[in-house]
Amino acid sequence: MSIADCNLIDLPKISDHRGNLTFVESRIHIPFAIERVYYLYDVPGGAERGGHAHKELCQLIVAMSGSFDIVLDDGKEKKRIHLNRSYTGLYVCPMIWREMDNFSSGSVCMVLASNRYDEADYYRDYQDFLRAVES
Ligand code: TYD
Repeated sequence: MSIADCNLIDLPKISDHRGNLTFVESRIHIPFAIERVYYLYDVPGGAERGGHAHKELCQLIVAMSGSFDIVLDDGKEKKRIHLNRSYTGLYVCPMIWREMDNFSSGSVCMVLASNRYDEADYYRDYQDFLRAVES
């Protein structure tokens, strides 16, 4: 897995005079079935989140409101991506270290995930992650 396997996905957007509507269907718009949804909100200015990788989890990260940056790192290359649209999601495949910062005031980050929460699926130590991707 590399950061080339992570991509921005433009979700359907239905617009009319009442506003916009976006939807996500498992395995149709994203390459996995959704088992869990979580969201980050009330993130204080200057805070950093993430700082981990997942062994098997696939995720779609969406800026539902406001904006923030995600730095993807596959152990060889890093890429900073700015998310600021509620109809664009960043697909993050397994074995990618991610850090999130630059949260705007009032931003909301929604994450669609392929599995339930499992602490055993995390690499929380960067050196452990590097050892795993290099082996
Ligand atoms: P963490 O994954 O470190 O958050 P972030 O990616 O934003 O840095 O999770 C923070 C805490 O919340 C940690 O104690 C685990 C817990 N948590 C759950 O209980 N369920 C979940 O679905 C998630 C994502 C986290």
